[in-house]
Amino acid sequence: MKIDVLLGLQWGDEGKGKIVDVLTPQYDIIARFQGGPNAGHTLQIDGDKHVLHTIPSGIFHPEKINIIGNGVIADPYILSQELAKLVAKGVNPLVNLRISKRAHLILPTHRMLDAAYEQALGAGKIGSTLKGIGPCYTDKTARYGLRFGDILASDFTEKYNSLKNRHLNILKSYNFDHNIQLIDKIPFDEYEKKWFEAVSELRAFPLIDSELYINKALAEGKTILAEGAQGSLLDVDFGSYPFVTSSNTIAAGVCSGLGVPPSAIGKVFGVFKAYCTRVGSGPFPTELADATGELLRDNGKEFGSTTGRPRRCGWLDLPALRYAIMLNGVTDLVMMKSDVMNDFDTINICTGYEVNGQITQDLTYETLSNPVMPIYESLPGWKKSLSGISDYNLVPENLKLYTDFIEKDAGLPIKILSVGPGREETILK
Ligand code: GDP
Ligand code: IMO
Ligand code: MG
Repeated sequence: MKIDVLLGLQWGDEGKGKIVDVLTPQYDIIARFQGGPNAGHTLQIDGDKHVLHTIPSGIFHPEKINIIGNGVIADPYILSQELAKLVAKGVNPLVNLRISKRAHLILPTHRMLDAAYEQALGAGKIGSTLKGIGPCYTDKTARYGLRFGDILASDFTEKYNSLKNRHLNILKSYNFDHNIQLIDKIPFDEYEKKWFEAVSELRAFPLIDSELYINKALAEGKTILAEGAQGSLLDVDFGSYPFVTSSNTIAAGVCSGLGVPPSAIGKVFGVFKAYCTRVGSGPFPTELADATGELLRDNGKEFGSTTGRPRRCGWLDLPALRYAIMLNGVTDLVMMKSDVMNDFDTINICTGYEVNGQITQDLTYETLSNPVMPIYESLPGWKKSLSGISDYNLVPENLKLYTDFIEKDAGLPIKILSVGPGREETILK
């Protein structure tokens, strides 16, 4: 069997979590392949909202195995909190969650370093989620990192102290006193204690060689969905660098993040919002710093699932979407949140940009490093509620005009249309 992939085509928060949950019945295994607790994937099941950060979004289906892959980095404390919240809702993750021994650990000092680096950048800060993502992936590539497999070793505390001391020396050079700074409003020593308690708890979990598990499952004909975090425009290679995350968020990340060959990739579901959002700093060509932007934020409840920060909002950007489709080899488009624009008279779509007096239809290095003027096409709004629609034939004509316009430009069909946060508010085309 092939492994299907689901990932974000914009700057994250496209609604990946909801669609993974909706598609999970079609798969045996759901596996996260990159990122860490910078992610916030929201599921709304029977009106109950649940946000996942490290755990795959198939976890509410007890008969489906959920894997935290080797490409993921996890903070044991945040993970243990996530587990506790699931247990409180009657889910027993011990039954269907597996963690790769090769997944790296986010230490409390990684979070301190993240804060110190952001503070030093001042106005030029990345707008990191302050979960320690950049520093942890840095240690991974610098070959200092600690992995889940290490928590089983008798010298784990020594290894931890050695890495911690390395971090404390760096923090000193930034004049960053870890004894004064808080993590999630908790003093360092207390957080570190909770972190070690969480590590002890996780020793009881099935820690596996996930690459062996996944390849064996594929050979046995099992179906697997790889769940992405963040979005293609936050990819460390192709995103709006340096305002990106520290992992490969694109489909290529599935191969290194789960240990599967490129030939094993099947469908690629590319999830995008009917407009655009971004949280944190960095270029955003179609951003609306006006009343329309505020309306998108209010209607779409565009506040970060992980940090609560207001998300920046703007019109759909087709050159950026085409770029993401190209990078990922998307086969199936999934459009989210068109319901947010139900009341709009007119909807703009960006079809190109003017950069340094030149017109381009491509998202190039220059378009992400210079001020750009988006070029818009205007379409009429549908001015109707989408509530209760489950058949694409019953969708308002002007929404069909909108989806047709996007499909023609993208050269791909929109296979799923999401018209509300709930599982059931999903139209399969
Ligand atoms: P993810 O990180 O890609 O999983 O997305 P987030 O969970 O961070 O953000 C998506 C937000 O939109 C969540 O609050 C979802 O509950 C919500 N949502 C998902 N699909 C829809 C939709 O079709 N319409 C509306 N109005 N909200 C949606
Ligand atoms: P999900 O999976 C939206 C953004 C941060 C910041 C930049 C770097 O929920 O879509 P980091 O903490 O990774 O060093 O931050 O990336 N960012 C996200 N934005 N959704 C996410 O995840 C994000 N994860 C990171 O806001 O701009
Ligand atoms: Mg999110």
